[in-house]
Amino acid sequence: MDIDEKKLGEYYANPPEDISLADVDLERIPHHVSIIMDGNGRWAQARGLDRSEGHVAGVDSLREAVTTSVRLGLDVLSVYAFSTENWRRPQHEVDLLMHLFATTLLNELPLFHQENVQLRFFGDIDALPKETADVFREGLAQTADHTGMTFALAVNYGSRAEIARAARELASEVAAGTLRPEDIDESVISSRLYTAGLPDPELLIRTSGEMRLSNYLLWQLAYTEFYVTPTLWPDFSRWDFLRAVKAFQGRHRRFGGVTER
Ligand code: IPE
Ligand code: IPE
Ligand code: MG
Repeated sequence: MDIDEKKLGEYYANPPEDISLADVDLERIPHHVSIIMDGNGRWAQARGLDRSEGHVAGVDSLREAVTTSVRLGLDVLSVYAFSTENWRRPQHEVDLLMHLFATTLLNELPLFHQENVQLRFFGDIDALPKETADVFREGLAQTADHTGMTFALAVNYGSRAEIARAARELASEVAAGTLRPEDIDESVISSRLYTAGLPDPELLIRTSGEMRLSNYLLWQLAYTEFYVTPTLWPDFSRWDFLRAVKAFQGRHRRFGGVTER
């Protein structure tokens, strides 16, 4: 996406000591950044608050991450908001999150219109509570003709479930005689995943210091650069985003070969 350098400069005014916009190469911003937004509960507990307060605070970080991504000219920002395993949490926490997703999305629709952001979901959103599913479908409809950055929210997403679903779909097409097994290659499989048509993430950020994928984008992250920060999600700012991009730009990506690129 195009970068509006004037807006970007204003957005990154008043830098802290260790990082500034000049530290990143605007020609080499990753096209797709994905974030595992983790640590809301610990952020709240450290303040003697209920875990739910951490989720509420995390919404501000997410809004900032969306704006940062637009300003930096990303094509795609995707974020992991709720996994297929998160249903194991206490019912009141699940209920709060589902309600928070719905209200947040409604509140943020003006931002998506203003910034021309197209919304997308990874995961089975039909299985969500009706209030949430309805708002999500409304968000899809309202942003369908937007041509700017894609913002993908992974909700009720699990990578193994995603791959199993793709396998079922392909198997039924083979059974129906519309697909030949020998035609199933990597691109065919990619085209049946929730990320169909999107470039794989070049950079994955996980907050709160956890060094695991938690069932996120197992196929798509095959050659992604990982950046783990101890910062908890509600504390993650535009500057942390810049630190991650800077770290990414310092990596040598070899893709199995022996030279860079
Ligand atoms: C991430 O924060 C948000 C969701 C998984 C919905 P957590 O709720 O996992 O926070 P911690 O990991 O318990 O601190
Ligand atoms: C991963 O975080 C899922 C999301 C951030 C939505 P979790 O907090 O659920 O992951 P684990 O349980 O620590 O692996
Ligand atoms: Mg967590």
